Amino acid sequence: MSFRRLFLWASTNRWLRVRATRARFVRRSVVRFMPGERMEDALAAAARLKPLGVSTMLTCLGESLARIQEAEEVCHHYLRLIDLIQQSGLDAQVSVKPTQLGFDQDVEVCHRHLVLLLERASASGHVLWLDMESSPYVDGTLALFRRLRERRPGVGVALQAYLYRTERDLDSLLPLGAAIRLVKGAYLEPASVAFPKKADVDANYLRLASRLLQAEGLPAGSLVHLATHDIPLQDRLRQLIAERRIGPDRYEFAMLYGIRSARQIELAQAGVPTRCLISYGEHWFPWYMRRLAERPANVWFVVKNALGG
Ligand code: FDA
Repeated sequence: MSFRRLFLWASTNRWLRVRATRARFVRRSVVRFMPGERMEDALAAAARLKPLGVSTMLTCLGESLARIQEAEEVCHHYLRLIDLIQQSGLDAQVSVKPTQLGFDQDVEVCHRHLVLLLERASASGHVLWLDMESSPYVDGTLALFRRLRERRPGVGVALQAYLYRTERDLDSLLPLGAAIRLVKGAYLEPASVAFPKKADVDANYLRLASRLLQAEGLPAGSLVHLATHDIPLQDRLRQLIAERRIGPDRYEFAMLYGIRSARQIELAQAGVPTRCLISYGEHWFPWYMRRLAERPANVWFVVKNALGG
Protein backbone atom coordinates (compact mmCIF):
# COMPACT_ATOMS: atom_id res chain seq x y z
CA MET A 1 0.00 0.00 0.00
CA SER A 2 1.40 3.46 -0.91
CA PHE A 3 2.05 6.09 1.74
CA ARG A 4 -0.87 8.22 0.49
CA ARG A 5 -3.31 5.30 0.47
CA LEU A 6 -2.22 4.23 3.96
CA PHE A 7 -3.03 7.62 5.47
CA LEU A 8 -6.26 7.97 3.50
CA TRP A 9 -7.29 4.55 4.80
CA ALA A 10 -6.40 5.70 8.34
CA SER A 11 -8.60 8.80 7.89
CA THR A 12 -11.70 6.56 7.90
CA ASN A 13 -10.61 4.22 10.73
CA ARG A 14 -12.63 4.73 13.91
CA TRP A 15 -10.30 2.77 16.20
CA LEU A 16 -7.34 4.95 15.20
CA ARG A 17 -9.40 8.13 15.45
CA VAL A 18 -10.39 7.48 19.05
CA ARG A 19 -6.80 6.73 20.11
CA ALA A 20 -4.99 9.36 18.05
CA THR A 21 -7.21 12.27 19.11
CA ARG A 22 -6.33 11.48 22.75
CA ALA A 23 -2.57 11.30 22.13
CA ARG A 24 -0.79 14.45 23.29
CA PHE A 25 1.91 14.29 20.60
CA VAL A 26 -0.71 14.08 17.84
CA ARG A 27 -2.61 17.03 19.30
CA ARG A 28 0.64 19.01 19.47
CA SER A 29 1.39 18.37 15.79
CA VAL A 30 -2.11 19.32 14.57
CA VAL A 31 -1.65 22.96 15.65
CA ARG A 32 0.62 23.48 12.68
CA PHE A 33 -2.43 23.26 10.40
CA MET A 34 -5.07 24.85 12.58
CA PRO A 35 -4.98 27.85 14.90
CA GLY A 36 -7.18 26.15 17.51
CA GLU A 37 -10.36 24.20 18.09
CA ARG A 38 -12.64 27.19 18.77
CA MET A 39 -14.40 29.53 16.32
CA GLU A 40 -12.70 32.44 18.11
CA ASP A 41 -9.27 30.93 17.33
CA ALA A 42 -10.10 30.88 13.62
CA LEU A 43 -11.46 34.44 13.66
CA ALA A 44 -8.32 35.65 15.47
CA ALA A 45 -6.14 33.95 12.83
CA ALA A 46 -8.20 35.61 10.07
CA ALA A 47 -7.72 38.99 11.78
CA ARG A 48 -3.94 38.42 11.84
CA LEU A 49 -3.89 37.65 8.10
CA LYS A 50 -6.02 40.64 7.13
CA PRO A 51 -3.29 43.33 7.44
CA LEU A 52 -1.01 41.11 5.34
CA GLY A 53 -3.53 41.27 2.50
CA VAL A 54 -4.63 37.63 2.78
CA SER A 55 -8.41 37.09 2.76
CA THR A 56 -9.82 34.03 4.47
CA MET A 57 -12.35 31.24 4.36
CA LEU A 58 -13.40 29.43 7.54
CA THR A 59 -14.59 25.90 8.08
CA CYS A 60 -15.51 23.97 11.19
CA LEU A 61 -14.15 20.43 10.89
CA GLY A 62 -16.59 17.57 10.92
CA GLU A 63 -18.20 15.17 8.46
CA SER A 64 -20.61 12.23 8.39
CA LEU A 65 -22.84 12.86 11.40
CA ALA A 66 -24.18 10.07 13.59
CA ARG A 67 -27.58 11.72 14.16
CA ILE A 68 -29.59 14.19 12.06
CA GLN A 69 -30.16 16.38 15.16
CA GLU A 70 -26.45 17.25 15.12
CA ALA A 71 -26.95 18.94 11.72
CA GLU A 72 -29.08 21.60 13.36
CA GLU A 73 -26.35 22.36 15.88
CA VAL A 74 -23.82 22.62 13.06
CA CYS A 75 -26.14 24.96 11.15
CA HIS A 76 -26.53 27.24 14.21
CA HIS A 77 -22.79 27.20 14.71
CA TYR A 78 -22.26 28.43 11.13
CA LEU A 79 -25.01 31.05 11.40
CA ARG A 80 -23.20 32.44 14.44
CA LEU A 81 -19.90 32.33 12.55
CA ILE A 82 -21.39 34.30 9.63
CA ASP A 83 -22.74 36.91 12.08
CA LEU A 84 -19.35 37.26 13.79
CA ILE A 85 -17.59 37.63 10.43
CA GLN A 86 -20.06 40.34 9.49
CA GLN A 87 -19.53 42.17 12.80
CA SER A 88 -15.73 41.92 12.56
CA GLY A 89 -15.58 43.40 9.06
CA LEU A 90 -13.31 40.57 7.88
CA ASP A 91 -13.27 39.52 4.22
CA ALA A 92 -13.94 35.95 5.29
CA GLN A 93 -16.15 33.35 3.62
CA VAL A 94 -17.57 30.13 5.02
CA SER A 95 -17.08 26.66 3.55
CA VAL A 96 -19.18 23.65 4.58
CA LYS A 97 -19.43 19.93 3.93
CA PRO A 98 -22.90 18.59 3.01
CA THR A 99 -22.40 15.50 5.22
CA GLN A 100 -21.82 17.83 8.18
CA LEU A 101 -25.31 19.24 7.60
CA GLY A 102 -27.15 15.92 7.43
CA PHE A 103 -26.74 14.88 3.79
CA ASP A 104 -26.48 11.15 4.64
CA GLN A 105 -29.56 11.16 6.87
CA ASP A 106 -31.94 13.47 5.00
CA VAL A 107 -31.03 15.49 1.92
CA GLU A 108 -34.02 17.80 2.36
CA VAL A 109 -32.94 18.73 5.89
CA CYS A 110 -29.42 19.32 4.58
CA HIS A 111 -30.83 21.55 1.82
CA ARG A 112 -32.92 23.55 4.33
CA HIS A 113 -29.82 24.19 6.46
CA LEU A 114 -27.83 25.24 3.42
CA VAL A 115 -30.58 27.65 2.37
CA LEU A 116 -30.43 29.31 5.80
CA LEU A 117 -26.65 29.64 5.56
CA LEU A 118 -26.78 30.93 1.99
CA GLU A 119 -29.40 33.56 2.86
CA ARG A 120 -27.35 34.75 5.84
CA ALA A 121 -24.03 34.79 3.91
CA SER A 122 -25.60 36.54 0.91
CA ALA A 123 -27.09 39.23 3.16
CA SER A 124 -23.55 40.15 4.22
CA GLY A 125 -22.22 39.89 0.66
CA HIS A 126 -20.13 36.75 1.18
CA VAL A 127 -19.98 33.60 -0.95
CA LEU A 128 -20.96 30.34 0.76
CA TRP A 129 -18.80 27.42 -0.41
CA LEU A 130 -19.62 23.71 -0.60
CA ASP A 131 -16.60 21.46 -0.13
CA MET A 132 -16.51 18.37 -2.34
CA GLU A 133 -16.25 15.08 -0.44
CA SER A 134 -15.51 11.59 -1.78
CA SER A 135 -16.82 10.50 -5.20
CA PRO A 136 -20.16 8.96 -4.08
CA TYR A 137 -21.16 12.48 -2.94
CA VAL A 138 -20.40 14.34 -6.16
CA ASP A 139 -23.83 13.96 -7.84
CA GLY A 140 -25.67 14.89 -4.64
CA THR A 141 -23.44 17.87 -3.90
CA LEU A 142 -23.79 19.23 -7.44
CA ALA A 143 -27.57 18.78 -7.27
CA LEU A 144 -27.64 20.77 -4.01
CA PHE A 145 -25.39 23.39 -5.56
CA ARG A 146 -27.75 23.83 -8.54
CA ARG A 147 -30.81 24.13 -6.28
CA LEU A 148 -29.09 26.70 -4.09
CA ARG A 149 -27.94 28.66 -7.11
CA GLU A 150 -31.51 29.00 -8.30
CA ARG A 151 -32.17 30.96 -5.11
CA ARG A 152 -28.98 33.04 -4.92
CA PRO A 153 -25.85 33.29 -7.05
CA GLY A 154 -23.56 33.63 -4.01
CA VAL A 155 -22.78 29.95 -3.67
CA GLY A 156 -19.65 28.14 -4.85
CA VAL A 157 -18.64 24.51 -5.16
CA ALA A 158 -15.35 22.62 -5.18
CA LEU A 159 -14.46 20.37 -8.13
CA GLN A 160 -11.69 17.77 -8.02
CA ALA A 161 -9.18 17.48 -10.87
CA TYR A 162 -8.41 13.82 -10.00
CA LEU A 163 -11.90 12.69 -11.12
CA TYR A 164 -12.39 11.74 -14.78
CA ARG A 165 -15.94 13.13 -14.62
CA THR A 166 -14.92 16.68 -13.66
CA GLU A 167 -14.36 17.73 -17.26
CA ARG A 168 -18.00 16.87 -18.04
CA ASP A 169 -19.23 18.54 -14.85
CA LEU A 170 -17.43 21.66 -15.92
CA ASP A 171 -19.19 21.58 -19.32
CA SER A 172 -22.52 21.96 -17.57
CA LEU A 173 -21.38 24.38 -14.85
CA LEU A 174 -19.41 26.86 -16.95
CA PRO A 175 -22.43 28.37 -18.75
CA LEU A 176 -23.99 29.20 -15.35
CA GLY A 177 -21.22 31.66 -14.49
CA ALA A 178 -20.72 29.83 -11.25
CA ALA A 179 -18.17 30.22 -8.46
CA ILE A 180 -15.90 27.18 -8.66
CA ARG A 181 -13.01 26.09 -6.46
CA LEU A 182 -10.66 23.82 -8.35
CA VAL A 183 -8.69 21.37 -6.18
CA LYS A 184 -6.64 18.28 -7.00
CA GLY A 185 -8.72 16.05 -4.66
CA ALA A 186 -8.03 14.69 -1.19
CA TYR A 187 -9.84 11.32 -0.84
CA LEU A 188 -9.00 7.69 -1.47
CA GLU A 189 -10.55 6.91 -4.87
CA PRO A 190 -10.40 3.82 -7.11
CA ALA A 191 -8.77 3.98 -10.55
CA SER A 192 -12.22 3.45 -12.06
CA VAL A 193 -13.19 7.03 -11.11
CA ALA A 194 -9.93 8.96 -10.57
CA PHE A 195 -6.54 9.29 -12.24
CA PRO A 196 -4.21 7.05 -10.22
CA LYS A 197 -1.05 8.92 -11.31
CA LYS A 198 -0.25 12.29 -9.80
CA ALA A 199 1.23 13.56 -13.08
CA ASP A 200 -2.15 12.98 -14.77
CA VAL A 201 -3.98 14.80 -11.96
CA ASP A 202 -1.61 17.76 -12.30
CA ALA A 203 -2.08 17.85 -16.08
CA ASN A 204 -5.86 17.67 -15.71
CA TYR A 205 -5.78 20.49 -13.15
CA LEU A 206 -4.00 22.73 -15.64
CA ARG A 207 -6.42 21.78 -18.42
CA LEU A 208 -9.50 22.46 -16.27
CA ALA A 209 -8.09 25.69 -14.81
CA SER A 210 -7.31 26.90 -18.30
CA ARG A 211 -10.98 26.39 -19.24
CA LEU A 212 -12.14 28.14 -16.08
CA LEU A 213 -9.86 31.05 -16.89
CA GLN A 214 -11.29 31.74 -20.31
CA ALA A 215 -10.93 35.40 -21.12
CA GLU A 216 -14.26 35.82 -22.84
CA GLY A 217 -17.64 34.25 -23.19
CA LEU A 218 -18.26 33.49 -19.53
CA PRO A 219 -21.31 34.97 -17.84
CA ALA A 220 -20.83 37.77 -15.32
CA GLY A 221 -20.25 36.57 -11.79
CA SER A 222 -17.94 33.70 -12.75
CA LEU A 223 -15.33 33.23 -10.07
CA VAL A 224 -12.58 30.66 -9.84
CA HIS A 225 -10.65 29.67 -6.76
CA LEU A 226 -7.35 28.16 -7.82
CA ALA A 227 -6.89 26.05 -4.70
CA THR A 228 -3.43 24.53 -4.78
CA HIS A 229 -0.02 24.87 -3.11
CA ASP A 230 1.77 23.64 -6.23
CA ILE A 231 4.07 26.57 -6.99
CA PRO A 232 5.08 25.67 -10.58
CA LEU A 233 1.37 25.22 -11.34
CA GLN A 234 0.52 28.53 -9.68
CA ASP A 235 3.22 30.24 -11.73
CA ARG A 236 1.86 28.75 -14.95
CA LEU A 237 -1.64 29.92 -14.02
CA ARG A 238 -0.40 33.40 -13.20
CA GLN A 239 1.21 33.54 -16.63
CA LEU A 240 -2.07 32.47 -18.22
CA ILE A 241 -4.00 35.09 -16.23
CA ALA A 242 -1.58 37.82 -17.37
CA GLU A 243 -1.65 36.69 -21.03
CA ARG A 244 -5.45 36.59 -21.05
CA ARG A 245 -5.75 39.83 -19.06
CA ILE A 246 -8.13 38.28 -16.55
CA GLY A 247 -9.32 40.79 -13.96
CA PRO A 248 -8.65 40.29 -10.23
CA ASP A 249 -12.40 40.05 -9.58
CA ARG A 250 -12.54 36.79 -11.58
CA TYR A 251 -10.10 34.60 -9.64
CA GLU A 252 -8.33 34.01 -6.32
CA PHE A 253 -5.51 31.70 -5.31
CA ALA A 254 -6.57 29.67 -2.29
CA MET A 255 -4.36 27.76 0.13
CA LEU A 256 -4.67 26.06 3.48
CA TYR A 257 -3.68 27.58 6.81
CA GLY A 258 -0.16 26.50 7.81
CA ILE A 259 0.86 25.32 4.33
CA ARG A 260 3.20 27.52 2.29
CA SER A 261 2.33 30.48 4.55
CA ALA A 262 5.20 32.65 3.24
CA ARG A 263 3.98 32.09 -0.32
CA GLN A 264 0.47 33.20 0.65
CA ILE A 265 1.81 36.49 1.99
CA GLU A 266 4.17 36.92 -0.97
CA LEU A 267 1.30 36.52 -3.46
CA ALA A 268 -0.98 38.88 -1.52
CA GLN A 269 1.74 41.52 -1.26
CA ALA A 270 2.30 41.26 -5.02
CA GLY A 271 -1.36 42.20 -5.48
CA VAL A 272 -2.56 38.69 -6.39
CA PRO A 273 -5.98 37.91 -4.82
CA THR A 274 -5.13 35.30 -2.18
CA ARG A 275 -7.35 33.47 0.30
CA CYS A 276 -6.40 31.16 3.14
CA LEU A 277 -8.76 28.39 4.27
CA ILE A 278 -8.68 28.16 8.06
CA SER A 279 -10.03 24.98 9.62
CA TYR A 280 -10.91 24.65 13.29
CA GLY A 281 -12.94 22.37 15.55
CA GLU A 282 -12.69 19.22 17.63
CA HIS A 283 -13.32 16.70 14.85
CA TRP A 284 -9.98 17.10 13.10
CA PHE A 285 -8.80 13.49 12.79
CA PRO A 286 -9.93 12.52 9.20
CA TRP A 287 -8.98 15.96 7.89
CA TYR A 288 -5.56 15.74 9.57
CA MET A 289 -4.90 12.28 8.10
CA ARG A 290 -5.65 13.73 4.64
CA ARG A 291 -3.07 16.48 5.26
CA LEU A 292 -0.48 13.84 6.28
CA ALA A 293 -1.32 11.80 3.18
CA GLU A 294 -0.48 14.78 0.99
CA ARG A 295 3.12 15.03 2.10
CA PRO A 296 5.37 12.34 3.64
CA ALA A 297 7.50 15.04 5.36
CA ASN A 298 4.50 15.94 7.56
CA VAL A 299 4.78 12.59 9.29
CA TRP A 300 8.31 13.41 10.52
CA PHE A 301 6.81 16.44 12.19
CA VAL A 302 4.42 14.14 14.12
CA VAL A 303 7.30 11.79 15.00
CA LYS A 304 9.37 14.74 16.27
CA ASN A 305 6.49 15.74 18.54
CA ALA A 306 6.18 12.14 19.74
CA LEU A 307 9.85 12.24 20.71
CA GLY A 308 9.24 15.49 22.56
CA GLY A 309 11.03 17.74 20.00
P1 FDA B 1 0.28 18.84 -4.34
O1 FDA B 1 -0.27 17.74 -3.52
O2 FDA B 1 0.91 18.52 -5.64
O3 FDA B 1 1.30 19.65 -3.45
C1 FDA B 1 2.13 20.66 -3.98
C2 FDA B 1 3.10 21.10 -2.88
O4 FDA B 1 2.37 21.77 -1.85
C3 FDA B 1 3.78 19.92 -2.16
O5 FDA B 1 4.95 19.54 -2.81
C4 FDA B 1 4.04 20.53 -0.80
O6 FDA B 1 5.19 21.32 -0.83
C5 FDA B 1 2.85 21.42 -0.59
N1 FDA B 1 1.81 20.70 0.16
C6 FDA B 1 0.68 20.17 -0.34
N2 FDA B 1 -0.04 19.59 0.65
C7 FDA B 1 0.67 19.76 1.79
C8 FDA B 1 0.47 19.38 3.13
N3 FDA B 1 -0.61 18.72 3.53
N4 FDA B 1 1.42 19.72 4.03
C9 FDA B 1 2.53 20.40 3.66
N5 FDA B 1 2.76 20.77 2.40
C10 FDA B 1 1.86 20.47 1.47
N6 FDA B 1 -9.96 18.62 -1.47
C11 FDA B 1 -11.15 18.02 -1.72
O7 FDA B 1 -11.18 16.84 -2.09
N7 FDA B 1 -12.31 18.72 -1.52
C12 FDA B 1 -12.32 20.04 -1.16
O8 FDA B 1 -13.38 20.64 -1.03
C13 FDA B 1 -11.06 20.67 -0.93
N8 FDA B 1 -11.00 21.99 -0.54
C14 FDA B 1 -9.77 22.63 -0.54
C15 FDA B 1 -9.72 24.01 -0.36
C16 FDA B 1 -8.49 24.67 -0.43
C17 FDA B 1 -8.44 26.16 -0.28
C18 FDA B 1 -7.29 23.92 -0.68
C19 FDA B 1 -5.96 24.61 -0.80
C20 FDA B 1 -7.35 22.56 -0.81
C21 FDA B 1 -8.56 21.89 -0.73
N9 FDA B 1 -8.64 20.51 -0.90
C22 FDA B 1 -9.88 19.92 -1.09
C23 FDA B 1 -7.41 19.67 -0.82
C24 FDA B 1 -6.84 19.38 -2.21
O9 FDA B 1 -7.67 18.48 -2.90
C25 FDA B 1 -5.43 18.75 -2.11
O10 FDA B 1 -5.49 17.54 -1.41
C26 FDA B 1 -4.39 19.62 -1.42
O11 FDA B 1 -4.55 20.97 -1.75
C27 FDA B 1 -2.96 19.20 -1.85
O12 FDA B 1 -2.80 19.35 -3.21
P2 FDA B 1 -2.01 20.56 -3.91
O13 FDA B 1 -2.88 21.12 -4.98
O14 FDA B 1 -1.57 21.54 -2.92
O15 FDA B 1 -0.81 19.90 -4.70
